[in-house]
Order: sequence, then C-alpha cells, then structure tokens
Amino acid sequence: QTPTRRTFLGICLGGLAAAGAVAAAYPLLSYLAPPSTGSEGAKVSFPETDIPPDGAKFFDYRGSTGVVIRTRQGQLLALSAICTHLGCIVQWEKEKQDFLCPCHAGRYSPEGTVIAGPPPRPLAKLPFVVVNGVITVG
Ligand code: FES
Repeated sequence: QTPTRRTFLGICLGGLAAAGAVAAAYPLLSYLAPPSTGSEGAKVSFPETDIPPDGAKFFDYRGSTGVVIRTRQGQLLALSAICTHLGCIVQWEKEKQDFLCPCHAGRYSPEGTVIAGPPPRPLAKLPFVVVNGVITVG
C-alpha cells in the first residue's frame, strides 16, 4: 500500500515535533549535567617573573579565573579572582595593595580577607608551589 498524502504529512510533522522536543530539552539537560570543561585537576604554570613587583597576574584556572599577586613585602599569594558576593572578577589595586570588586565595591586584603562591602566570604586560596622560578597553581 502506498502512503497517502496524509500519512506523509503526519510523518513530517512527527519528525518536526521530535526535533523541537530535542531542541527544547537540550538547554535543560546541559544545565543539569555536571560541567565538564576537560580541565578538572589541571595545573597552570608560568614564570615567576610574569608577576611584577606589587603586581598581579590573572589567568584562566579550571574554567574560572585565578590571580597570583606579589605584595610589597615580596610575598606571593594565589587566590580565586571570583568575588564571593555575586561572582564578578576582582581587580588588583597596586597602589592600595588590595582587591576591588568593580560590581559592588567589595574590597579584599591581599590575603583575600573581606575588608569592605557586601562579600560574605574571603576569596578562595589556591594551592601553589614555586620551583626554579616557575609558579605552578593547582
Ligand atoms: Fe563583588 Fe558584588 S559581586 S561586591
């Protein structure tokens, strides 16, 4: 038996409905699935000389942003650069020797402690080592 025009249209509409359902479900499924950046556990390395005196180096870190600073006293510190208030990226203020969040004026000490504004928690510390002039974070 040859398919009728009605059967053919039914098959086409069914296919379109299935494609639409997949397209509609994809964002929800990708939201529910655990993030997979392919970089979990990844370490980041760069020369210690990348960090100027009193300065900072920002870098991509496990799908986020990290920062290593060198204080006036020469101490190196590695922190998450993600503000604990609403997730903006903090800026290093070399003159003031603290971090400023540009979104709501949160301020953090060089160690990441909250010193002003709405952030509820300190910046997360990142583990790091310095070997032969190379900093490895992670
Ligand atoms: Fe940083 Fe609000 S997001 S202070």
